[in-house]
Amino acid sequence: MQRLAPDPGATSVAEQLDAYRPWDDPPANRPHLALNFATTLDGRAAIDGRSGPIGSAADTAMLVGLRQRFDAVMIGAGTMRVERYGRIIGDPAKRERRESLGLPGDPLMVLVGGLDLPWDAPLFTAGGGRVLILTADAENEPPATATPVEVVREPDGRVDLAVAMRRLRADHGVRGLLCEGGPHLHSQLHAAGLADELFLTIAPKLVGAGPSILEGPLPAVTELELAWLLAEGSELFARYRRR
Ligand SMILES: NC(=O)c1ccc[n+]([C@@H]2O[C@H](COP(=O)([O-])OP(=O)(O)OC[C@H]3O[C@@H](n4cnc5c(N)ncnc54)[C@H](OP(=O)(O)O)[C@@H]3O)[C@@H](O)[C@H]2O)c1
Repeated sequence: MQRLAPDPGATSVAEQLDAYRPWDDPPANRPHLALNFATTLDGRAAIDGRSGPIGSAADTAMLVGLRQRFDAVMIGAGTMRVERYGRIIGDPAKRERRESLGLPGDPLMVLVGGLDLPWDAPLFTAGGGRVLILTADAENEPPATATPVEVVREPDGRVDLAVAMRRLRADHGVRGLLCEGGPHLHSQLHAAGLADELFLTIAPKLVGAGPSILEGPLPAVTELELAWLLAEGSELFARYRRR
């Protein structure tokens, strides 16, 4: 892997993330929020309905590496239904490494959306880790699951993400939060001014159709600045910060 900016030279995902400590200096009353997305050159967030075919093994390494640096990982219900997540940190050695950094061994897995979820997915059946569901679903009840699941119900028909972020910090001690999508959740987080960073894998692929990485309006153009740019072959790995 090559670092193109700043300070061009050889690097690796591990080297890039080694000094990355998003839990160290969060805003006063919410977590530091980073988003991680993979996009095609035409801005698509899925190929045949899935994100997996977009990126390479280096993209997976970045995803796995980032997961090791946050107190919590968040996704929307749409992503959970399609991607059927498992335990975020499956490797016990990686959980130990997190603990040595002062992070919980298992990140808190935060789901946003209705309770019409794939309850047979390994996230719920694995029995390890912790899941918090933020929902406005007044109709469905969660079934019994092997993995501990806490459900927080919002009365107003939708989850207010600014309030949710404050509660994640105050009630769950989340200092660093990694959001892995999807596009509808992504746009709301930017619209609410809650996104601090965007890790964007740009795959050298054109697909011509599919959801964009942002599905939803923003109240204004959001300006970002480049924090780093890496390349592995023709695939680019950008890290942007909110200006
Ligand atoms: N390229 C990438 O990096 C990447 C990353 C993630 C996902 N994806 C792809 O994106 C697609 C899924 O897109 P998506 O936009 O549907 O995913 P999403 O943003 O994860 O899920 C949207 C759903 O989340 C719930 N939700 C979001 N905000 C909410 C709020 N404020 N209050 C209550 N519920 C809220 C709603 O669930 P209910 O429907 O239950 O109301 C909504 O339908 C899949 O194809 C997936 O593969 C790509």
